Amino acid sequence: MYERGFRCLICGREYTLDEVEYVCPHHDLPGVGTLDVLYDYHAIARATSPARIARDPDPSIARYEALLPIRSRASLPPIPVGGTPMYHARRLGDVLGLPHLYLKDDGRNPSASFKDRASAIAVARARDEGRPVITGASTGNAAASLALLAASVGIKAIIFVPESAPEAKIAQLLIHGAQVFAVRGSYDQAFDLCLEASHHYGWYNRNTGYNPFMTEGKKSAAYEIIEQFTTITRLGLPVLLGHRGDWPRAAGDHWDAPDRIFVSVGDGCIIGGLGKGIRDLLALGWIEHPPKLMGVQAEGSAAIYNAWRSGTTDVAPVTPTTLADSISVGQPRDPYKALAAVRETGGEMLLVSDEEILDAMRVLAREAAIFVEPAAAAAFAGMRRALAEGRIHPEERIVVLLTGNGLKDVRAAVRAAGRPTVIPPSLNALQALLSSALK
Ligand SMILES: Cc1ncc(COP(=O)(O)O)c(C=O)c1O
Ligand SMILES: [Zn+2]
Repeated sequence: MYERGFRCLICGREYTLDEVEYVCPHHDLPGVGTLDVLYDYHAIARATSPARIARDPDPSIARYEALLPIRSRASLPPIPVGGTPMYHARRLGDVLGLPHLYLKDDGRNPSASFKDRASAIAVARARDEGRPVITGASTGNAAASLALLAASVGIKAIIFVPESAPEAKIAQLLIHGAQVFAVRGSYDQAFDLCLEASHHYGWYNRNTGYNPFMTEGKKSAAYEIIEQFTTITRLGLPVLLGHRGDWPRAAGDHWDAPDRIFVSVGDGCIIGGLGKGIRDLLALGWIEHPPKLMGVQAEGSAAIYNAWRSGTTDVAPVTPTTLADSISVGQPRDPYKALAAVRETGGEMLLVSDEEILDAMRVLAREAAIFVEPAAAAAFAGMRRALAEGRIHPEERIVVLLTGNGLKDVRAAVRAAGRPTVIPPSLNALQALLSSALK
């Protein structure tokens, strides 16, 4: 609504919205995102405020329409995205000694992952621009969400995924009627092929990082986390699904931010989006301090962590090896925004092993009753690692963003959970087994 152009994250050149479409033409990087979308914050401040948003009865990302790069909320797909639950995780917090631990379950989006936040903007912009075809490459979730939201408005989706993507994610693509190409190769190769095809055929490209507007959808999670955190803490709620507008506003028309947000990192687009959302809120004066963004990568896919560690913005590709398929990325496509988000908020990057990820899946499911896929569990595993290493104080107010539902990758869930005990259909057999288990 109030977007006014782009700025290149590398050379600082500014462009109007019509001058460039995806990336700054002055750099020859392989599909790597370089453009930040600029806004007229004065106009936004005149149009809306935390108090006005609080009164909006729509719990989806539409409530933030003045901050989104869309013509109006009518451009968004009719299937609502966002408004996912946030829990004050008291039982899990007791186990860990963290009284102020909050879990944001973004697996409760329409396609069961966080990626719906970006796909909603891709679909809205394609509608605003009259583009009949959207393409995307994905480890699975971004594509599944594009397939679902494209189906909600009758736009054609053409998808490239690595052949190894989990079956449930591929089934999601096909059932929503997308044209699916399972690329015999890695996610990075699927990404490059999608890029070439979109240039060749003129399709609208939703690729993570490369399309600068994907950040602008993902930033809605920062607004939502902070708005919900404000409501939960001011009203003392155990859980909040969507939003409530009745929090005390005596202290002024602003929101309260938590101290830290943990999130998993693959290409870096989600954490970059959170960083952008926080930057918007600081620019508008709606929060006073930024929550520190804590990015978590798998040890076997640590390209952005490595760059953060060595203090550079040059991200050297790696050969990814992690069971967390959604964050298994060799050549991250959004490293500039990711690294800026961590550095500007005073956050950190962390690594976790696949074993820690599987254990995090079990603990989240058993102590907080949230079933997540491995990439989402990585964020929680990173939080435990940071706690064990003394990098966070137990009194801090911590949000862990859980980005994908556990049914997305049943094979990994079985690895984490184990197999059931098989018995013959007789009470004697059950008794024998139970008494030996008790011994
Ligand atoms: C469930 C889940 N978590 C985390 C990520 C990582 O996001 P990004 O690649 O933007 O860093 C993804 C990306 O596919 C994902 O699907
Ligand atoms: Zn540039």
